[in-house]
Amino acid sequence: MSAYRELADSVRMTGKGSCPWFGEKDDKLELIGKGRSAYVFKILSTEKVLKVFFPDFTHIAKEEAAIYHDLEGLEFFPTLYEAGSNYLVLDYIEGYTLFECLQQGIPVSEQNMNEVDQALDLARKKGLNPSDIHLRNIIITPHGGIKIIDVARYRQTKQCTQWDDLKRAFYRFYRKPYFPKRLPIFILNTIAALYKRKWLPEF
Ligand SMILES: Nc1ncnc2c1ncn2[C@@H]1O[C@H](COP(=O)(O)OP(=O)(O)O)[C@@H](O)[C@H]1O
Ligand SMILES: [Mg+2]
Repeated sequence: MSAYRELADSVRMTGKGSCPWFGEKDDKLELIGKGRSAYVFKILSTEKVLKVFFPDFTHIAKEEAAIYHDLEGLEFFPTLYEAGSNYLVLDYIEGYTLFECLQQGIPVSEQNMNEVDQALDLARKKGLNPSDIHLRNIIITPHGGIKIIDVARYRQTKQCTQWDDLKRAFYRFYRKPYFPKRLPIFILNTIAALYKRKWLPEF
């Protein structure tokens, strides 16, 4: 059995299949993130992460792995090392998500935004339809570059406007001198929840 398979099997999830919590895990794993479909762990003493999907979302592992194969060679996306029925092994990306940047007051520049555009254009050239591009899926690295994670929905046919909306908000609000560059987490979560429900006014 692969060593990564063993690590993934060590993560015992209990509770609802769409939003479980985990009890046990191997000591080599350190929890670094949780999304809508998976827990993400750093594999200690390596520069890799293990993304372990929740029981109701294991089918995404295969889909996301296939998309990472399409993106192979593009520096803006992590490299995929192994995929199993419920897990992926990827490059660990050091840095802060845009969500953490806003929460902690770490500046986000126009160059960062342009780089995301460049990355998404390259993904489109590979025949993909980048979707689900939001604040928690973009990381600014210590060198000031950007990396994009969570590519599972890049083959959907529905058009996703999240990135265009974020860009508009960046130029209309964030860049203005009076706009606070650091926002409390509950405000950020409230804005995200209102946006998701389409309750934010047009801007
Ligand atoms: N390769 C990675 N390197 C560093 N952090 C990561 C990596 N992948 C995911 N994360 C962290 O884990 C969180 C959840 O991962 P994500 O792939 O977005 O899961 P989901 O598909 O469930 O949304 C991310 O927002 C990020 O904070
Ligand atoms: Mg995500």
